This record gives sequence, structure tokens and C-alpha cells, in this order.
Amino acid sequence: MTFAWYFNEFTMAGVDFEDVSRVTAYDRNQTASTPEKEQALVSRLGIAAGHTVIDLGAGTGTFAIQAALAGASVHAVDISRAMLNYAQSKAQKAGVATVNFHLAGFLTYEHQGEFADVVITKNALHILPDFWKMIALLKIAAFLKPKGVFYLRDVVFSFPPADYETAIEQWIAQVAKPEGQGWTVKDFQMHVREEHSTFAWAVEAMLKRAGFDIVETNYPSPTYAEYLCRKAVT
Ligand SMILES: C[S@@+](CC[C@H](N)C(=O)[O-])C[C@H]1O[C@@H](n2cnc3c(N)ncnc32)[C@H](O)[C@@H]1O
Repeated sequence: MTFAWYFNEFTMAGVDFEDVSRVTAYDRNQTASTPEKEQALVSRLGIAAGHTVIDLGAGTGTFAIQAALAGASVHAVDISRAMLNYAQSKAQKAGVATVNFHLAGFLTYEHQGEFADVVITKNALHILPDFWKMIALLKIAAFLKPKGVFYLRDVVFSFPPADYETAIEQWIAQVAKPEGQGWTVKDFQMHVREEHSTFAWAVEAMLKRAGFDIVETNYPSPTYAEYLCRKAVT
């Protein structure tokens, strides 16, 4: 059943990933997602032949391709047709045939087949307001096998809330690149203004509420976080 109040995740906030020039520039801008780094993450998550893996907000597919090269059956989910087309052509060039591409999002993807061994989402969950992040996490937990792994990496704020002005300004000054060389000051300003990155304590509480045990938490800076979780067995 669909409700009139349900969030329309296809009306994308922030960066327009239907814009083909944004999509083709993505791999250049996103230096944290090189094939080597994604391959290391695949090993760290213990992804192996026979596993079912779901990547939500899969973008240009770098992680999905590396997981498939490790022998997993991968579902790459994204609401951007342009991103999926780009990822699909990358997978073809890499000779990978075990990535299934789905035009859907956190709230609309309906998983069929084997329960997942691993669900991952990187740099994407912030697109949803907090209420809908919580709903997305409940859905993710439902896709996973008991004790299945959930890995979340995103822009998450771990600075003291009262320091928000200095913390955001320092972040942008440290990471923004000149036009044509990566994410710009305007991109980061838009992220904070229009997307829905939130506080670390809120994300941790949501993960627990959704039924995850948080196995590892890393805050490499006051504006990024990664969480390695397992679906709790009740
Ligand atoms: C910043 S990119 C991250 C891509 C990739 N996960 C990475 O780490 O490089 C965010 C991706 O999320 C997708 N996206 C936006 N809203 C979404 C939603 N509601 N559900 C799933 N994907 C979404 C965008 O189209 C885009 O491909």
C-alpha cells in the first residue's frame, strides 16, 4: 500500500546525479572510492564467493564491481538511471556479470531471492531526513540474514552541536577543491543546507533501534563516520 504521506525518494535533494556530467566526474571527485580501496573494503567485510551483497546508493558501481570480482552475487541499487547506466558499462568493461542493477532506492527497493550476507551503503543515507533514515534502516535489517553484516559510511557530525558554525566552516575549508578538481565549496555548502547529514549520536541510536549491534565505530574526522554492524539475533 502506498500512502499520500510517503516520502518520494526519486525527487533527489542535493547534487543532481541524473546530470551525466556529474556522473562522469564522480569517480574523479570521489577519491575515497578507488577500485583498490573498495577491494580492501570487500576483504575487510569478508565478502566471498556465494555471498549475496546489496549496495544501496551504489553510484558508479566501484564497490559493487569489486564485490562481484570476489565472487559475490551483487544487487546495486540506485535511484539515478544515469548512475546505473554508467555503473553497468563499467561492470561490462570489468567483465563482471554478477551485478544486478535496480532502479530503486532505500525506501522502494524490494529484495527478492536470498537474504543478504552483507548490505552496504556509502555516502548516500544522508539524502534522507532522519525519520526516513530510520525507516530505511528497518528495511535494511529485514534484507539481512541473522548476524548479517551492515556497513554504513557517510557524512555524519561528531563535533559538539554547539560548535556547528566553526566545525562546518573548518570542514569545508579543509576539503573543498577548486572548480574542475573535485567537490567545491558550493557542493559542500549545498550538502549542509539541502541534504540531511545528522549527528553521530542520532545515527548510533537509529542503528540500535533498527536491530543492529554496532561492532565497530570510526570517526576519522568530526564530519565522517563509519559503522560496522551485525544484525542482532533476537
Ligand atoms: C554520493 S553518491 C555515493 C555513491 C557510492 N555509494 C560511493 O560511495 O561512491 C550517492 C548516490 O546515492 C544515490 N541516491 C540518492 N538518493 C537515493 C535513494 N533515496 N536511494 C538510493 N540511492 C540514492 C545517488 O543517485 C548517488 O548515486
